[in-house]
Amino acid sequence: LNYQAARFLTSAPTLAKCPSDTGAEVAFAGRSNAGKSSAINVMTRQKALARTSKTPGRTQMINFFTLGDDTERRLVDLPGYGFAKVPDAVKMEWQRHLSDYLQRRTSLRGLVLLMDVRHPLTEFDQTMLGWADEQDMPVHILLTKADKLKSGAAKNALQQVRSQLREWEDLVSIQLFSSLKKQGIEELHSRLDDWLES
Ligand code: GTP
Ligand code: MG
Repeated sequence: LNYQAARFLTSAPTLAKCPSDTGAEVAFAGRSNAGKSSAINVMTRQKALARTSKTPGRTQMINFFTLGDDTERRLVDLPGYGFAKVPDAVKMEWQRHLSDYLQRRTSLRGLVLLMDVRHPLTEFDQTMLGWADEQDMPVHILLTKADKLKSGAAKNALQQVRSQLREWEDLVSIQLFSSLKKQGIEELHSRLDDWLES
Protein backbone atom coordinates (compact mmCIF):
# COMPACT_ATOMS: atom_id res chain seq x y z
CA LEU A 1 0.00 0.00 0.00
CA ASN A 2 1.07 3.56 -0.60
CA TYR A 3 1.71 4.91 2.88
CA GLN A 4 3.37 8.03 1.53
CA ALA A 5 -0.03 9.14 0.27
CA ALA A 6 -1.35 9.31 3.84
CA ARG A 7 -3.16 12.47 4.80
CA PHE A 8 -5.02 13.80 7.81
CA LEU A 9 -8.71 12.95 7.92
CA THR A 10 -10.08 14.06 11.28
CA SER A 11 -9.64 14.12 15.06
CA ALA A 12 -12.20 12.62 17.38
CA PRO A 13 -12.41 13.17 21.16
CA THR A 14 -14.53 10.06 21.70
CA LEU A 15 -15.60 6.90 19.93
CA ALA A 16 -18.96 8.46 19.11
CA LYS A 17 -17.24 11.15 17.03
CA CYS A 18 -15.02 8.78 15.02
CA PRO A 19 -15.46 8.62 11.24
CA SER A 20 -17.78 5.93 9.94
CA ASP A 21 -16.80 2.44 11.01
CA THR A 22 -16.37 0.90 7.56
CA GLY A 23 -13.37 -0.42 5.66
CA ALA A 24 -10.18 -1.22 7.58
CA GLU A 25 -7.94 0.64 9.98
CA VAL A 26 -4.83 0.06 12.08
CA ALA A 27 -4.27 1.89 15.36
CA PHE A 28 -1.01 2.97 16.99
CA ALA A 29 -1.16 2.68 20.76
CA GLY A 30 1.30 2.84 23.61
CA ARG A 31 2.62 4.78 26.51
CA SER A 32 2.84 8.54 26.28
CA ASN A 33 6.11 9.57 24.62
CA ALA A 34 6.81 6.05 23.24
CA GLY A 35 7.00 7.50 19.74
CA LYS A 36 3.61 6.72 18.13
CA SER A 37 3.28 9.99 16.23
CA SER A 38 6.96 9.85 15.18
CA ALA A 39 6.50 6.30 13.86
CA ILE A 40 3.48 7.36 11.79
CA ASN A 41 5.51 10.23 10.29
CA VAL A 42 8.47 8.03 9.48
CA MET A 43 6.46 5.19 7.96
CA THR A 44 4.56 7.65 5.75
CA ARG A 45 7.77 9.58 4.98
CA GLN A 46 6.13 12.82 6.05
CA LYS A 47 7.76 15.17 8.50
CA ALA A 48 4.71 16.51 10.27
CA LEU A 49 1.66 14.42 9.44
CA ALA A 50 1.13 13.49 13.09
CA ARG A 51 2.14 16.01 15.72
CA THR A 52 5.06 14.95 17.88
CA SER A 53 6.39 16.51 21.05
CA LYS A 54 9.01 16.25 23.74
CA THR A 55 6.18 16.77 26.22
CA PRO A 56 4.36 13.51 26.93
CA GLY A 57 0.62 13.71 26.41
CA ARG A 58 0.80 15.62 23.15
CA THR A 59 -1.79 13.54 21.33
CA GLN A 60 -5.06 13.80 23.25
CA MET A 61 -7.55 12.97 20.53
CA ILE A 62 -7.99 9.96 18.31
CA ASN A 63 -6.42 11.18 15.04
CA PHE A 64 -7.36 9.53 11.76
CA PHE A 65 -5.29 9.49 8.57
CA THR A 66 -6.38 8.04 5.24
CA LEU A 67 -4.21 6.54 2.54
CA GLY A 68 -4.74 9.12 -0.21
CA ASP A 69 -8.40 9.49 -1.14
CA ASP A 70 -9.21 6.02 0.09
CA THR A 71 -11.13 6.68 3.31
CA GLU A 72 -11.69 2.93 3.64
CA ARG A 73 -8.04 2.43 4.69
CA ARG A 74 -6.92 4.38 7.71
CA LEU A 75 -4.08 4.81 10.21
CA VAL A 76 -5.11 5.90 13.70
CA ASP A 77 -2.88 7.77 16.18
CA LEU A 78 -4.21 7.10 19.67
CA PRO A 79 -3.59 9.20 22.77
CA GLY A 80 -0.77 7.81 24.88
CA TYR A 81 -1.37 6.34 28.29
CA GLY A 82 0.54 6.39 31.53
CA PHE A 83 1.45 10.06 31.54
CA ALA A 84 2.13 10.80 35.21
CA LYS A 85 1.26 14.50 35.20
CA VAL A 86 -2.30 13.97 34.06
CA PRO A 87 -4.90 13.83 36.88
CA ASP A 88 -6.21 10.34 37.66
CA ALA A 89 -9.73 11.23 36.54
CA VAL A 90 -8.42 12.23 33.10
CA LYS A 91 -6.31 9.05 32.91
CA MET A 92 -9.33 6.89 33.65
CA GLU A 93 -11.30 8.73 30.99
CA TRP A 94 -8.61 8.02 28.35
CA GLN A 95 -8.41 4.39 29.36
CA ARG A 96 -12.17 4.08 29.04
CA HIS A 97 -12.06 5.60 25.55
CA LEU A 98 -9.23 3.27 24.57
CA SER A 99 -11.01 0.18 25.77
CA ASP A 100 -14.26 1.31 24.08
CA TYR A 101 -12.42 1.86 20.87
CA LEU A 102 -10.70 -1.54 20.98
CA GLN A 103 -13.86 -3.38 21.87
CA ARG A 104 -16.32 -1.73 19.54
CA ARG A 105 -14.48 -0.53 16.47
CA THR A 106 -15.42 -3.09 13.83
CA SER A 107 -13.04 -1.76 11.19
CA LEU A 108 -10.03 -2.16 13.49
CA ARG A 109 -7.85 -4.88 11.95
CA GLY A 110 -4.84 -4.72 14.22
CA LEU A 111 -3.02 -2.81 16.86
CA VAL A 112 0.52 -1.48 16.58
CA LEU A 113 1.67 -1.34 20.19
CA LEU A 114 4.74 0.82 20.79
CA MET A 115 7.05 0.33 23.74
CA ASP A 116 10.32 2.06 24.50
CA VAL A 117 12.89 -0.70 24.02
CA ARG A 118 14.42 0.30 27.35
CA HIS A 119 11.14 -0.08 29.29
CA PRO A 120 8.96 -2.68 27.56
CA LEU A 121 5.80 -4.33 28.91
CA THR A 122 4.61 -1.81 31.45
CA GLU A 123 1.56 -2.71 33.45
CA PHE A 124 -0.76 -0.89 31.09
CA ASP A 125 0.95 -2.44 28.04
CA GLN A 126 -0.06 -5.76 29.51
CA THR A 127 -3.60 -4.52 30.05
CA MET A 128 -3.71 -3.54 26.36
CA LEU A 129 -2.45 -6.99 25.38
CA GLY A 130 -5.14 -8.53 27.55
CA TRP A 131 -7.87 -6.47 25.84
CA ALA A 132 -6.50 -7.36 22.42
CA ASP A 133 -6.45 -11.02 23.38
CA GLU A 134 -10.10 -10.87 24.46
CA GLN A 135 -11.02 -9.55 21.00
CA ASP A 136 -8.66 -11.87 19.12
CA MET A 137 -7.13 -8.68 17.80
CA PRO A 138 -3.64 -9.13 16.31
CA VAL A 139 -0.91 -6.94 17.80
CA HIS A 140 2.38 -5.87 16.25
CA ILE A 141 4.79 -4.58 18.88
CA LEU A 142 7.37 -1.94 17.95
CA LEU A 143 10.23 -1.75 20.41
CA THR A 144 10.95 1.90 19.71
CA LYS A 145 13.96 4.15 20.17
CA ALA A 146 16.18 1.17 19.34
CA ASP A 147 18.88 3.76 18.51
CA LYS A 148 19.22 4.38 22.26
CA LEU A 149 20.79 0.94 22.74
CA LYS A 150 23.79 -0.73 21.17
CA SER A 151 22.74 -3.24 18.57
CA GLY A 152 23.52 -6.27 20.76
CA ALA A 153 21.53 -4.89 23.67
CA ALA A 154 18.61 -4.08 21.40
CA LYS A 155 18.61 -7.65 20.05
CA ASN A 156 18.67 -9.00 23.59
CA ALA A 157 15.70 -6.84 24.52
CA LEU A 158 13.84 -8.16 21.46
CA GLN A 159 14.54 -11.79 22.44
CA GLN A 160 13.49 -11.13 26.00
CA VAL A 161 10.16 -9.57 25.07
CA ARG A 162 9.57 -12.41 22.58
CA SER A 163 10.11 -15.02 25.22
CA GLN A 164 7.87 -13.19 27.70
CA LEU A 165 5.07 -13.15 25.15
CA ARG A 166 5.51 -16.70 23.91
CA GLU A 167 2.03 -17.70 25.09
CA TRP A 168 0.60 -15.06 22.73
CA GLU A 169 2.76 -15.78 19.70
CA ASP A 170 -0.26 -16.57 17.49
CA LEU A 171 -1.58 -13.05 17.94
CA VAL A 172 1.56 -11.03 18.60
CA SER A 173 4.58 -10.16 16.44
CA ILE A 174 7.49 -8.02 17.62
CA GLN A 175 10.23 -5.96 15.97
CA LEU A 176 12.82 -3.31 16.73
CA PHE A 177 12.10 0.18 15.44
CA SER A 178 13.79 3.56 15.37
CA SER A 179 12.18 6.67 13.97
CA LEU A 180 15.46 8.51 14.38
CA LYS A 181 17.41 5.96 12.30
CA LYS A 182 14.43 5.05 10.10
CA GLN A 183 14.97 1.44 11.15
CA GLY A 184 12.23 -1.18 10.75
CA ILE A 185 9.98 0.66 8.29
CA GLU A 186 9.74 -2.17 5.73
CA GLU A 187 8.88 -4.77 8.34
CA LEU A 188 6.15 -2.49 9.68
CA HIS A 189 4.77 -1.82 6.19
CA SER A 190 4.52 -5.49 5.40
CA ARG A 191 2.59 -6.21 8.62
CA LEU A 192 0.18 -3.34 7.90
CA ASP A 193 -0.22 -4.56 4.31
CA ASP A 194 -1.39 -7.92 5.70
CA TRP A 195 -4.02 -6.21 7.83
CA LEU A 196 -5.23 -3.51 5.48
CA GLU A 197 -5.22 -5.36 2.19
CA SER A 198 -7.43 -8.25 3.29
P1 GTP B 1 2.05 11.09 22.93
O1 GTP B 1 1.37 11.72 21.77
O2 GTP B 1 2.34 12.00 24.06
O3 GTP B 1 1.36 9.85 23.40
O4 GTP B 1 3.54 10.64 22.46
P2 GTP B 1 3.97 9.79 21.18
O5 GTP B 1 3.98 8.35 21.53
O6 GTP B 1 3.18 10.18 19.98
O7 GTP B 1 5.51 10.23 21.02
P3 GTP B 1 6.17 11.22 19.94
O8 GTP B 1 6.17 10.58 18.60
O9 GTP B 1 5.58 12.57 20.07
O10 GTP B 1 7.71 11.21 20.43
C1 GTP B 1 8.05 11.57 21.76
C2 GTP B 1 9.52 11.98 21.81
O11 GTP B 1 10.35 10.87 21.52
C3 GTP B 1 9.91 13.06 20.79
O12 GTP B 1 10.84 13.92 21.42
C4 GTP B 1 10.54 12.26 19.68
O13 GTP B 1 11.48 13.01 18.94
C5 GTP B 1 11.22 11.14 20.45
N1 GTP B 1 11.36 9.92 19.61
C6 GTP B 1 10.37 9.28 18.96
N2 GTP B 1 10.82 8.19 18.31
C7 GTP B 1 12.16 8.13 18.56
C8 GTP B 1 13.22 7.22 18.16
O14 GTP B 1 13.03 6.24 17.44
N3 GTP B 1 14.47 7.49 18.63
C9 GTP B 1 14.73 8.55 19.45
N4 GTP B 1 15.97 8.70 19.89
N5 GTP B 1 13.77 9.42 19.83
C10 GTP B 1 12.49 9.22 19.40
MG1 MG C 1 1.51 11.36 19.79
